[in-house]
Amino acid sequence: MTFRPTLVALGLGLVATAATVTAQSNNQGGATAGDAERGARLAYTCHGCHGIPNYRNAYPGYKVPKLVGQQAPYLEAALRAYATGERSHPTMFSQSESLSDQDRADIAAYLESGGVPQDRPVVGTPPPATQTCVACHGDNGAKAVMGDYPVLAGQHQDYLEHALRDYKSGRRKNPIMAGIVAAIDDKDIPAIAAFFANQPGLCGMEDLRKHGACKK
Ligand code: HEC
Ligand code: HEC
Repeated sequence: MTFRPTLVALGLGLVATAATVTAQSNNQGGATAGDAERGARLAYTCHGCHGIPNYRNAYPGYKVPKLVGQQAPYLEAALRAYATGERSHPTMFSQSESLSDQDRADIAAYLESGGVPQDRPVVGTPPPATQTCVACHGDNGAKAVMGDYPVLAGQHQDYLEHALRDYKSGRRKNPIMAGIVAAIDDKDIPAIAAFFANQPGLCGMEDLRKHGACKK
């Protein structure tokens, strides 16, 4: 785990950036979040896919990921990665390319505001292959240990499988996850994804719109 110090530095860098942006844009001071109200307006177009239950991406087919309850730094990093092409997806490129740092922070604050219950007991028996995951993603995938690590709990199973296969093929590039998936057997991927998908956690934007949060 020699990469750990670099990661911590990276995470702190992101948090520091977010804090600066917030301090400049609204005078709440101290908070690292963007302006969730403005974010709600900016995120209007996102509902067309992320706010329709079980809406699917075509070719390859998998469900559009749930976003509500992800931590703001992870969401901002993901949107930036699509905009720069570091993470390649044509639709998400066009959705993110014109967003400013402030826009990303505000949208992220809105999506994060749905919250994820972190202290739920683990549902089911964790497959042995998930033993290494919990150090970063939390016992049930709900308590990511760094702001820019994603929550996995409650995410669609087929999206999680797709993400793991993308890391494995090198289509999605991340030095940490590349190392992790290299050690996973392909045949274990469905059980790993099913375990995290079954935990209470993330929800779609329709819940945020209707209830202001993920249903507890
Ligand atoms: C036409 C459908 C569509 C629209 C509209 C759309 N998205 Fe997406 N989004 C997707 C798909 C499909 C993916 C998964 C892409 C992949 O495999 O990386 C995705 C992925 C994401 C991710 C990464 C999630 C993760 O767990 O890593 C974020 C963040 C995101 N979208 C935010 C947004 C925001 C914010 C908007 C509105 C500004 C938006 N999306 C609009 C289809 C859409
Ligand atoms: C050392 C920390 C660490 C460990 C251990 C780890 N991850 Fe990750 N994981 C990350 C980071 C950081 C990201 C975000 C990478 C990126 O931006 O693409 C991530 C991303 C993911 C994603 C993409 C989620 C999304 O919303 O797109 C999945 C799925 C995932 N990890 C599953 C796993 C599984 C399964 C394991 C165990 C077998 C595991 N991870 C172990 C740090 C870790």
